[in-house]
Amino acid sequence: MLLLVLVLSLHSTQQGQSLNQEGLYLQRVKPGFDDPDGVFSTWNDRDDNPCNWHRVTCDSVTQSVNSLDLSSANIAGPFPSVLCRLDNLTSLSLYNNSVNSTLPENISDCRSLEHLNLAQNLLTGEIPKSLAEIPNLKHLDLAGNKFSGRIPASFGGFRHLELNLSYNPFSPGRIPPELGNLTNLEALWLTGCNLMGPIPDSLGRLGRLIDLDLALNELVGPVPSSLTELSSVVQIELYNNSLTGELPATGWSNMTKLRLLDASMNELTGTIPDELCSLSLESLNLYENQFQGKLPENLAKSPNLYELRLFSNHLNGELPRDLGKNSRLMWVDVSSNLFSGEIPATLCENGALKELLMIHNSFSGEIPASLGDCRKLTRVQFGYNFFSGAVPARLWGLPRVYLLELTHNSFSGEIAKTIAGAANLSSLIISRNRFSGDIPTEIGWLENLVEFTGSDNRFTGSLPASIVNLGQLERLDLHDNSLTGEIPCGIHSWKKINDINLADNDFYGNIPEEIGSLMVLNYLDLSGNRFSGKIPLGLQNLKLTQLNLSSNRLSGNIPPLYAKEVYKNSFLGNPGLCGDITGLCDDKNGAKNMDHVWSFKKAKSGSGGCRNLT
Ligand SMILES: *[C@@H]1O[C@H](CO)[C@@H](O)[C@H](O)[C@H]1NC(C)=O
Ligand SMILES: *[C@@H]1O[C@H](CO)[C@@H](O)[C@H](O)[C@H]1NC(C)=O
Ligand SMILES: *[C@@H]1O[C@H](CO)[C@@H](O)[C@H](O)[C@H]1NC(C)=O
Ligand SMILES: *[C@@H]1O[C@H](CO)[C@@H](O)[C@H](O)[C@H]1NC(C)=O
Ligand SMILES: *[C@@H]1O[C@H](CO)[C@@H](O)[C@H](O)[C@H]1NC(C)=O
Ligand SMILES: *[C@@H]1O[C@H](CO)[C@@H](O)[C@H](O)[C@H]1NC(C)=O
Ligand SMILES: *[C@@H]1O[C@H](CO)[C@@H](O)[C@H](O)[C@H]1NC(C)=O
Ligand SMILES: *[C@@H]1O[C@H](CO)[C@@H](O)[C@H](O)[C@H]1NC(C)=O
Ligand SMILES: *[C@@H]1O[C@H](CO)[C@@H](O)[C@H](O)[C@H]1NC(C)=O
Ligand SMILES: *[C@@H]1O[C@H](CO)[C@@H](O)[C@H](O)[C@H]1NC(C)=O
Repeated sequence: MLLLVLVLSLHSTQQGQSLNQEGLYLQRVKPGFDDPDGVFSTWNDRDDNPCNWHRVTCDSVTQSVNSLDLSSANIAGPFPSVLCRLDNLTSLSLYNNSVNSTLPENISDCRSLEHLNLAQNLLTGEIPKSLAEIPNLKHLDLAGNKFSGRIPASFGGFRHLELNLSYNPFSPGRIPPELGNLTNLEALWLTGCNLMGPIPDSLGRLGRLIDLDLALNELVGPVPSSLTELSSVVQIELYNNSLTGELPATGWSNMTKLRLLDASMNELTGTIPDELCSLSLESLNLYENQFQGKLPENLAKSPNLYELRLFSNHLNGELPRDLGKNSRLMWVDVSSNLFSGEIPATLCENGALKELLMIHNSFSGEIPASLGDCRKLTRVQFGYNFFSGAVPARLWGLPRVYLLELTHNSFSGEIAKTIAGAANLSSLIISRNRFSGDIPTEIGWLENLVEFTGSDNRFTGSLPASIVNLGQLERLDLHDNSLTGEIPCGIHSWKKINDINLADNDFYGNIPEEIGSLMVLNYLDLSGNRFSGKIPLGLQNLKLTQLNLSSNRLSGNIPPLYAKEVYKNSFLGNPGLCGDITGLCDDKNGAKNMDHVWSFKKAKSGSGGCRNLT
């Protein structure tokens, strides 16, 4: 028995000693890393080979390690160059860790590597030129490190399929023209690499390229017409550079696979090429440039177009008549251009539209009723145009809309009661129009309403009592209307209110004492109404940057905190008002002398009654 145990334990010790050479190399990786999550805990040196260790994969026949995936393992330490002793290692990922050394030149000893992903680490220094000597390396992802120096021109000498160097703080330099020699390359990502100078013509030779991303650099000069020779390309990202000149007028038809083009945030001029718009584009982003002229009608023919962002250019004319008819448009932003004409009635024909932003143009006409059936809309901005007519009733009540901005137009008619359905509405901005009628009770049902700006309209009637239910309300601006009645009871529930502007209406009654409980109120303008009674003493509790109670019928004393010269303009034109501000009150009845009496009585004296909820 004893013998048997001895034999068994001898046997297992022997097993421990029999870990193969590749396993021994891997064991040398362990001590190099800080490993708080115990990623290496299954790497047992008493195993024969490492093939059952976590994150290690072996060839099933030769039992030789061919893949090591240490991505997102929360390990920290230098690059483990001992891994290059694994003859058959074809795939190595250390993606998303804290590998914090330089990358050694002898990484080229990893002769079998095909996939190397070292993205999102803390690698420093220059990218070793020798990487180009790894014969079969196809996917190289070094994005999101701290590599400095230049992108090695030697990278032009080998056969990558994917080359990702995005988001590294390289020293400012040009795109090596040699990269144009990588004729098998399928993805070239040089986002945020500190690149300067022009886009080399040679990139047009990358006939198999599918993804080209040169965004977030400081590239200058024109988009070379050779780029239109990228006949396999699906996606081109050029946004946020300093590119100038016009887009190539012709050649785009060679790029039959192009789906996404983003050249936003450059200084591009000229027109948007018709040939480009005749492709089956899915996404066209050209915002923040200096494009002019019309948007080609052909754009509306793409069956795939879902995103169109052209804001902040000088585009004019009408939008393509059939825009939205043939595709599931989701995002449209044509704001800040010189567009005119009407909203194409087909925009939401396929019911997918989520955002429609058209502010600061010269659009006119009425909102097509069909937009009222656009149930997925979340954001609608039509401000600063020449729109007119009533807003379709169903548009007021779209269930997902959080921002409805119609300001500075000539819209008329009432806010429809259907607004009750706008359960997600957070900002209702409809100032400077010709809206009329009552503010409907249903507005008080919009639990998520944060801002209601309806100033400079023709609203009449009193505020609905339900408005005090708006517990999220931060801003209520209804100045310059013909509203009347009293401020309803219960405004203490406006716990988040910052701004109240009811100036220049026909409100009357007391200013409710409750107003003193609105602790974050910062701006209060009730001027130009018929408010009467005393000023609530509670206003002294607030930190107001703007207070205007001028031109009302208030009487009694100004709360001592405000009875100062600097606040004089806050109380003008209230003949019955007394205080220490010279000239405001004639002091006929010796009000000044009553100050101390008044302050003792303050708890009771706040006569700030309010209209009861009914
Ligand atoms: C690598 O694979 C080859 C066969 O493809 C095999 O002959 C060789 O032994 C392997 N190397 C190691 C270290 O296992
Ligand atoms: C990066 O790794 C951490 C674990 O260290 C993980 O929580 C996180 O989700 C990973 N991030 C990505 C983008 O994979
Ligand atoms: C790399 O990370 C390890 C483990 O956290 C740390 O001990 C070492 O100082 C770091 N090295 C550098 C150069 O930051
Ligand atoms: C690779 O080079 C580094 C220094 O650059 C050295 O520490 C390491 O031992 C070398 N690794 C191999 C496997 O030769
Ligand atoms: C390149 O790296 C960036 C940053 O890590 C990443 O967002 C992008 O998806 C990568 N591109 C490819 C083609 O893998
Ligand atoms: C790579 O391209 C450059 C210029 O684009 C050229 O001068 C050079 O000869 C090319 N190198 C190879 C190996 O083809
Ligand atoms: C691009 O298209 C034009 C005609 O539109 C054609 O003459 C030219 O050969 C094409 N170029 C490539 C590289 O396909
Ligand atoms: C554009 O890129 C520069 C750096 O190249 C950066 O500072 C800036 O924030 C970027 N702008 C936008 C809008 O992304
Ligand atoms: C509601 O509005 C928020 C923004 O306030 C938005 O993120 C969300 O997608 C909207 N919800 C629905 C169901 O559309
Ligand atoms: C209050 O409004 C009146 C006009 O009704 C204006 O003359 C006065 O300057 C305003 N006061 C302040 C402090 O803004």
